[in-house]
Amino acid sequence: MNFTSEKLKKIKPSGIRELFSKSQGIENVISLGIGAPDIHAPDKLKEALKQAVDDNFNNYDQTPGYLGLREAITKKYRVDYGVDYCSTNGTIVVCGGVQLIYIALQTYLSNGDEVLVQDPCFLTYPQQVTLAGGKTIWMPSTDNFEIDIEKTKELVTDKTKVLILNFPSNPTGAVMSREELKAMVDIAVDNNLLILSDEVYEYYTYDNAKHVHVGSIDGAYDRTITVNSFSKTYAVPGWRMGYGVTTPELMKPILDYHSFVVANATTPTQVALANFMHTPEAVKFKKDVKGIFQKRRDVIVDGLNSIGGIKCQKPVGSFYCYPDISQTKYSDGESFSTKAFLII
Ligand SMILES: Cc1ncc(COP(=O)(O)O)c(C=O)c1O
Repeated sequence: MNFTSEKLKKIKPSGIRELFSKSQGIENVISLGIGAPDIHAPDKLKEALKQAVDDNFNNYDQTPGYLGLREAITKKYRVDYGVDYCSTNGTIVVCGGVQLIYIALQTYLSNGDEVLVQDPCFLTYPQQVTLAGGKTIWMPSTDNFEIDIEKTKELVTDKTKVLILNFPSNPTGAVMSREELKAMVDIAVDNNLLILSDEVYEYYTYDNAKHVHVGSIDGAYDRTITVNSFSKTYAVPGWRMGYGVTTPELMKPILDYHSFVVANATTPTQVALANFMHTPEAVKFKKDVKGIFQKRRDVIVDGLNSIGGIKCQKPVGSFYCYPDISQTKYSDGESFSTKAFLII
């Protein structure tokens, strides 16, 4: 008997999760597959969580999340980017950034709506678009993995509804400049598109690259939903703590959807993050981790480039690198990754 819904039959299982599962329990395997920092969460943050539980923050909370955390989030946007969001009606705390991508697409897509997604991208996007009844339209990348702006203009149709941006990028590590992102925002403005800007790697940029908060670009604020997460910033992916900011008008229907899915994100973790986010320990942690990732990037990129047939550009953001294996004897990434496993 197969009771699976038609919509679920259309999506593929996650290849990365499959490789991740295979790597578990095998000795001497360092899994480089899944996007999780192998760094422990800061002690102060762990203590704050224990304290929150002891202080009895173990009940349900408001649908958008613990107000103290929403206030800390809007303060962060003011401090980091000089942009104001409303902590009462324009901010949401969710169970991981992926949950916000899910509810935002479910909220705003109708059957047949088209969504512009960069190729290659975080594997969740096309699957979530499909689950929401939409159709992924692939935006080609330039040689250095930015979005090809001119070619994207030709892809817009009267069915295009959403533009997904993700810089710094998973999986390429690319970062687009303010000027280039402004050109993408202009496409959205000219064609009345909603922008979903996934900025979960905002603190990981290297060399001369700088993160640009899309909501701070002229014309973007009123049509952008920003997706963010504590998973990477404070090395707590297992806490499943994500968040988002946008205008109250765009947030309202998302909150309606959220209230029927999880009601509210986990309470004690929110309290812990609210008490930790603006401490000197939080600032130091972000700086230290960035330094560690930058060093690792240099090692891994040099290492990959020393293997015959592999070419790898130096990423300027996130913590991924995207080697070109087309000159090896493996025809695609899947057979290459599987073989890498067998060698071990
Ligand atoms: C680009 C991007 N967005 C969102 C997420 C979601 O992170 P989380 O659901 O842990 O907050 C990830 C995780 O790997 C990611 O790479």
